[in-house]
Formats: sequence, C-alpha cells, structure tokens
Amino acid sequence: MSTAPNAQLTDLKSDYIRRGWFKFPSRFTGQAIELLRERVQAISQESRPEVVLEKDGGRVRAIHGCHAFDEACQALVRLPCLVEMAEKLIGGPVYLYQFKVNIKQAYEGDAWPWHQDFSFWSEEDGMPRPDAVNFAISLDDVHTGNGPLTVIPGSHRLGLLDLPEKEADGMVSDWRQHVSADLAYTVTPERVEELAGENGKELILGRAGSIHAFHPSIVHSSSNNLSADRRALLLLTYNAVDNAPASPTRPVFLVDRNTDPIVPREDGRFAFEADD
Ligand code: SIN
Ligand code: MN
Repeated sequence: MSTAPNAQLTDLKSDYIRRGWFKFPSRFTGQAIELLRERVQAISQESRPEVVLEKDGGRVRAIHGCHAFDEACQALVRLPCLVEMAEKLIGGPVYLYQFKVNIKQAYEGDAWPWHQDFSFWSEEDGMPRPDAVNFAISLDDVHTGNGPLTVIPGSHRLGLLDLPEKEADGMVSDWRQHVSADLAYTVTPERVEELAGENGKELILGRAGSIHAFHPSIVHSSSNNLSADRRALLLLTYNAVDNAPASPTRPVFLVDRNTDPIVPREDGRFAFEADD
C-alpha cells in the first residue's frame, strides 16, 4: 500500500474527525501477519517486565514496548504508509508513544472496561493534548465472538469524561492498573448507556491484517473472549512531536521517552493488499 490517494484520504480524515475511527483501505498480507505473530509468540515466552499476565496470573494478556528491542517490530513502526497516515491525521511530525499487543487468548482473554485512552495519557504522563492516534492491527480474524474492540462513534468530541478525583481519594494509580482488566480510569455504565443511546455502538471487526485508526478520546471497550479463537490486536500509538508528555514517570515500555520524529523506511517484509 502506498499512502491512500488524496480523495480517499480526505474521506478517511473526515471520518476520523466525525466518528473518531475508520478502517484503512488496505490490510497487511498473510505473510506480514505471520511474521508479526511469530515475533509476538516468541516475546510472550520471554520473562521480562514488558510481558503482562491476566489478573489471575495465568495466560499472557499483553506485551509492551516491543519496538525498542525487536527488529521486526521496529521496522513495522517505521513503515511510510503508517507514519504518513499518522502525520496527515495529526498534522505534523510524529514519534511512537506506545507499542502494545493485547493478546486476548481463546476462552481466557479478559475484557477491557469502557474507557478513554487519553485519560491515562493526560493524567499519568501529562500529555498536553489528544494530538495522537492509535492504529490497531488485527493479528487474528476479529469477529463478534472473540472480544472485538467496541467504540461509541463521535464520543471523542466530548473531551474527557468521568475522571476520578485521584488526590481527593488518596488513590495511587499503579501502571498495572493501566494494562489490566481493573482499569484505573473508566467511564461509568450510566454515561456509556447515555452516549450509546445517542450515538450507538460500533464493533471493529475484520480479517487478520486489517488496520483501524481510532482517536485517543473515543470511548471504547472490549468484552471477554468466550470463543475458541484468539484475538490478538497490535496497537501503535503515534503522537505529535510537539505533544510529548510533560511529566512521564511510567515505565519506558509504556511511554517511550524518545520523541525524535520517525524517519519512515520501506520494508519488503511488510506488504499490503486491498481490504474489503
Ligand atoms: C483491546 O485490546 O480490546 C483494548 C484496546 C484498548 O483499549 O486500547
Ligand atoms: Mn484503550
């Protein structure tokens, strides 16, 4: 895939502004996805802090910051079609703020409660503005049964909702509460029902290799995986270079401290085909 043609790009950007998410017109080929799956499998078996288990200590829930130590993951981040799309959506040079793979194992993968990503980035890291974008790359086919990402379209335009009063509560937010099924910042069920009543909910489905963009402030969740099919989702968050967090204290595998603009580089291992 080269970057989307201009007319199409205008439509994608207007979808992003209006609904807070869109699907890329192209997906990664099976071969590219096979390489990423292989890397995810290998990293998941390593004993390192970037590998996070489900709350019962059983299966691997997620792996983080892989671009910093894995060559194929680093190459993925630098692909021109991803970097250029992020630059066009955000409107300037970007760096990679966060890399993660939420694995959501068959039968045992836990949910992600309703939340807005920007709550974490603003409250915990001091990110000034939501001038960032998530690209979600499906490493497996995603269907209604294996815990797809679910979004409330348009909710990103409301800014941050329902933040707890951390200091007043004396609550200390541990980074593990940013990656577990017990999230530190959530949107209340009442607010979710109210928003969904107005705007509906949309499931982000697609074949392995498909790529979706979603906004840092969009209200989203995903349910437990009750099916026999794993649902691994690789998430890249690009941030504007002039929007780097003011006071990052979380581990570097959650908040990359290198804010130099990415220099895009093609890599023949990552090819694309039209998505339907
Ligand atoms: C998920 O993997 O379903 C959740 C992703 C996210 O909350 O960003
Ligand atoms: Mn999220």
